[in-house]
Amino acid sequence: MTDRPTMTTTAGAPIPDNQNSLTAGPRGGIMLQDYQLIEKLAHQNRERIPERAVHAKGWGAYGTLKITGDISKYTKAKCLQPGAETPMLARFSTVAGELGAADHERDVRGFSLKFYTTEGNWDLVGNNTPVFFVRDPVKFPDFIHTQKRHPRTNLRSATAMWDFWSLSPESLHQVTILMSDRGLPVDPMHMNGYGSHTYSFWNDAGERYWVKFHFKTLQGHKHYTNEEAEALIGKTREGYQEALFGGIERGEFPRWKMQVQIMTEEQAENTSYNPFDLTKVWPHAEFPPIDVGIMELNRNADNYFAEIEQAAFSPSNIVPGISHSPDKMLQARVFSYADAHRYRLGTHYENIPVNQPRCPVHHYHRDGQMNTYGGLRTGNPDAYYEPNSVNGPFEDASAKEPPLKISGDMARYNHREGNDDYSQPRALFNLFDEGQKGRLFSNIGAAMGGVPGHIVERQLAHFKLVHPDYEAGVRAALERLHGYKADTISAQPTAAE
Ligand code: NDP
Ligand code: HEM
Repeated sequence: MTDRPTMTTTAGAPIPDNQNSLTAGPRGGIMLQDYQLIEKLAHQNRERIPERAVHAKGWGAYGTLKITGDISKYTKAKCLQPGAETPMLARFSTVAGELGAADHERDVRGFSLKFYTTEGNWDLVGNNTPVFFVRDPVKFPDFIHTQKRHPRTNLRSATAMWDFWSLSPESLHQVTILMSDRGLPVDPMHMNGYGSHTYSFWNDAGERYWVKFHFKTLQGHKHYTNEEAEALIGKTREGYQEALFGGIERGEFPRWKMQVQIMTEEQAENTSYNPFDLTKVWPHAEFPPIDVGIMELNRNADNYFAEIEQAAFSPSNIVPGISHSPDKMLQARVFSYADAHRYRLGTHYENIPVNQPRCPVHHYHRDGQMNTYGGLRTGNPDAYYEPNSVNGPFEDASAKEPPLKISGDMARYNHREGNDDYSQPRALFNLFDEGQKGRLFSNIGAAMGGVPGHIVERQLAHFKLVHPDYEAGVRAALERLHGYKADTISAQPTAAE
């Protein structure tokens, strides 16, 4: 027993008895001066932090990114140079469900990566889909509200989802992926990840290229049908955690091939679609994927809360050689995530070990929650302002990215005008074999149960513009699953019509 560490209070004093409260006589009551008990109860009351407003349920692990290709002519980022090996963290998630949601629900999966590079943390906060439901960030909170609980019933509402989607045809591409086989992967290892947005690379010569990031699963794609997932959820709600954590514990390390697509600034002027539109992919035939490296996950966290729940990913975390683009959604995200972390985790959230960069950090930010730096982050007690004459940390012009060309008159441009929302979903639909199409129709039919007819018809009209077979297939599924008939609809107009 003597070699066991002594249990202490948080102030370091030894705890004499962790079995019995301090009472007046054996029957009680308890003394207010039992500070050990009070400390224990007070800590328990503070064990929960706000869950993420979206992507609350997640699973993560550590690993490595090894660069095997050569894209040095596009980017000066040290972590992407041939031979580089960078430690990293991945967190996968569902979007809509709360912290206790079942893992095997049909939903988009988050695919967040944090690379601890020698030049600072680079976060790629993507999904398992290459596109998104909306293309203007002003619609993001509305979209998320349709995925969350109805304020009165406190239930999720299929009517709200399809009302919003049918009034937002830019969602068609992502809705088609969500309702296809890839909308319900068996676990995080058997799905791709995509940076989704267009980002930019810049090189030593100050040239900028547009880039899309892809992480292709080397385990192969595997999905469940709705029925398989329902049966599984009856047995376990934690199937992803079991599979990812358990696999890594057994030494089965999942791997993904990292690829990029590159577009020059000149090419971006000449595509038939807006290359910064998050509802669009860049066709592979025009912009072939280039192999960059291999990402492997090989170590579980020791403390889920400390390392996965407190992980703070942000698209604002870039490093020299990698930057953003005019994508409106990306620009909103550059603001939104660090703001969320300051609220969810505290001002100095980057001081939590899982978020700490693995390179020297010197800044002039000072006080606030969780400042545990033990001195100024400048490393010099007199350097608490800048500029200064005391050799405090100083800017590095080599990190200055090349100018980004922007032009245009300031206005609120209608993003639904002149945008083709149908061709790319059609290209995807045409990729599906008959079995995949049949499951797509059934999944949509099932998801539309109870939705008023005027909303169903509005959505069917969009499917028809993608492909007449798409509309016919979903209509037949609605008839089969719900006895739906177009002539029984209540043709209620909506404000938007
Ligand atoms: P390609 O045939 O060259 O590319 C097809 C892509 O689609 C591949 O990346 C493949 O991923 C992926 N894919 C195959 N089956 C499915 C499925 N059931 N659900 C979702 N994705 C699937 O064609 P294009 O580049 O012209 O793209 C055609 C359509 O493919 C797009 O409209 C888009 O919906 C989808 N897609 C395109 C991507 C891109 O970056 N161009 C990326 C992902 C999807 P994998 O290699 O892993 O099998
Ligand atoms: C999480 C905002 C679009 C992927 C979050 C969080 C916020 C947010 C506030 C919670 C962060 C936290 O508390 O830690 C937004 C906004 C968007 C947007 C404002 C659009 C304007 C997207 C898109 C993608 C995406 C397009 C993928 C391409 C993710 C992922 C997470 C997340 C993966 C979970 C991060 C983690 O693992 O901790 N988002 N989001 N989001 N978002 Fe978004």
